[in-house]
Amino acid sequence: MIKGFIFDLDGVITDTAELHYAAWKKLSNDMDWQFDRELNEKLRGISRMDSIKVIMDYNNVSLGEDTIVELATKKNDIYVESLNGMTQEDYLPGAEELLTHLRSEGFNVALGSASKNAEKVLKQLNATRYFDIIGDGNSVSRSKPAPDIFLYASEKMGLPPENCIVFEDAEKGIDAAKAGKFYSVGIGPKERVGHADVRFDTMKQATLFEVKSHFKDLF
Ligand code: BG6
Ligand code: MG
Repeated sequence: MIKGFIFDLDGVITDTAELHYAAWKKLSNDMDWQFDRELNEKLRGISRMDSIKVIMDYNNVSLGEDTIVELATKKNDIYVESLNGMTQEDYLPGAEELLTHLRSEGFNVALGSASKNAEKVLKQLNATRYFDIIGDGNSVSRSKPAPDIFLYASEKMGLPPENCIVFEDAEKGIDAAKAGKFYSVGIGPKERVGHADVRFDTMKQATLFEVKSHFKDLF
């Protein structure tokens, strides 16, 4: 039986990819590194430190750990500043409707995000009230594709993985859900999240009615 839902944040509840892109681009320009939207796609779902390492590898750059942390912090300052422009209008279409519906039907709802800025993003959206539990980049040390963040969220909800559905837009996020033995809903193209149990192109299509009809025996 499904009793709980765990949502990734970036790319599921709201689209921050463009803001991450702009911040990494600014840092890359300052450092004279190559960075484009294709490379930005590879950062979907992975932690800030893993992200900077992907960008450095692409540019054949190696630096000491302290410098890497300093540069990642610089990128984060730019990103956090840009979050100030985010408002309650910035939900991905369908996301707030689904959260409202889940609350009204009495499901447990948790966040399972790799971001250390999740609380700020939720606050900007005025979305904190939809979540019983907030699992973010500060909650666990191993990031996706490790299942830890989803296991943290389900444990805090008091539910085993087989009672929970994870919503994810990242390939590594679906890998993490599967590694933790959660049911999964992928949001995005087949090439990215085709390995999820159920896939929708966008959150707008992921209504509770549709989700229930795909996982019929579990409701
Ligand atoms: C994920 C994003 O949700 O959070 C990644 O998809 C990002 O692109 C990661 O790198 C970490 O975010 P933050 O806010 O801690 O830098
Ligand atoms: Mg995501």
